[in-house]
Amino acid sequence: AAQQAGDELGYSVFVVGGFVRDLLLKVPTQDLDLVIEGDGHAFARVLAQRFPEGQLILHEQFGTARLEFPDGSHLDVARSRREDYASPGALPQVEESRLRDDMFRRDFTINAMAIAINSTRSGELVDYYGGLRDLKQGEIRFLHNLSFIEDPTRILRAIRFAGRYGFRLAKETRDGVDTALSTGVLRKLSNERFTEELMHMLRELRFGVMGESLLQMGVLKEWFESELAWDFTHPVLNKEVPPKRKWLICLRKMDLSQFERVQEKLRLSKELRGLTQKFFEVMTGLSVLRSSDKISLEDLDHYLEGLPKVILEVLMLDERFHDSLKRYHEATEGIKQKVDGMTLLQWGIKEGPEIGRILKSIRSAWLEGEIHSEEDEQKFVAE
Ligand code: CTP
Repeated sequence: AAQQAGDELGYSVFVVGGFVRDLLLKVPTQDLDLVIEGDGHAFARVLAQRFPEGQLILHEQFGTARLEFPDGSHLDVARSRREDYASPGALPQVEESRLRDDMFRRDFTINAMAIAINSTRSGELVDYYGGLRDLKQGEIRFLHNLSFIEDPTRILRAIRFAGRYGFRLAKETRDGVDTALSTGVLRKLSNERFTEELMHMLRELRFGVMGESLLQMGVLKEWFESELAWDFTHPVLNKEVPPKRKWLICLRKMDLSQFERVQEKLRLSKELRGLTQKFFEVMTGLSVLRSSDKISLEDLDHYLEGLPKVILEVLMLDERFHDSLKRYHEATEGIKQKVDGMTLLQWGIKEGPEIGRILKSIRSAWLEGEIHSEEDEQKFVAE
């Protein structure tokens, strides 16, 4: 459809960036970026006619357009970025140099390739900067020395792509990261942008690998301005598990001041922030309890009742808590408490603190195995 639209309007059309990279790597990819030589909105409108299920969004300011599809994927249309407007009949060399400029502004060689899709040159790979070579040799290479200074998020992007594809950073690119870090450009990033990049990593399969690189290259130390007890070694961090679980796992060795630093320097979502806070509270609570010999089920219940499952799962990985949690899990599994506040009121108990006290003692009777069934429960209350 893009080919037809391009041919029809007389515009050169290229697929660019991540889509090309993933196509050459033969890995699945979702979003499609097109760069065209011509009026981006006109092109997007023609294209949109062919996809009635897609929703067209035009950005006046940038001349870009996006087609969003019901499955969550999208297609972006941009003009190759030059200030002057391309006319449909522009000389081919001029067009090519625009595309070259556009590619040069990108982050890494492997992301700076294009594939022509007009029928006259369909499928032709445009690779000015050795992207294909770097894909083959597994290297992340920036396009110029100022890349990280211009855009420090690229430091995290480099690590993310390297981790995702099992690539390494090319020598000069690694040196570039070191230079950027030592000049303090990372600190110029807003908390929001740093967090956003970190969250991108967290959604990746091999988050553990990426985290190790962040540590090793000194990115985390530079960003948090101190050496925190990150732990990216757990194998689950490189498996298909929910991001929030990975997040708690890598934090679990930290102490209070370190947790506070993390919260201070990141703009986590409300959910993740709350989870982090709760996780820390429970961990602290349990560590204090642990100094007593055998923790009572009631004490465990105080910290663990109603806790989000993900926190329990992560606590389970900790040897210090493993046995207590198992015991607690077994004890709570069988609890089928039927009596609640409403029941007690119906049974004629007056509203007030008494209700809470009774409910609490019912729950600990269940926990301690003094109650096994609904009947036991009723008898217990009657007594
Ligand atoms: N890009 C860049 N510098 C950035 C962010 C993006 O040069 N800081 C360029 C890259 O060429 C990239 C394109 O913009 O290919 C699209 O960015 P994005 O959608 O973030 O990346 P993808 O390469 O599509 O990666 P992903 O597979 O993670 O979506």
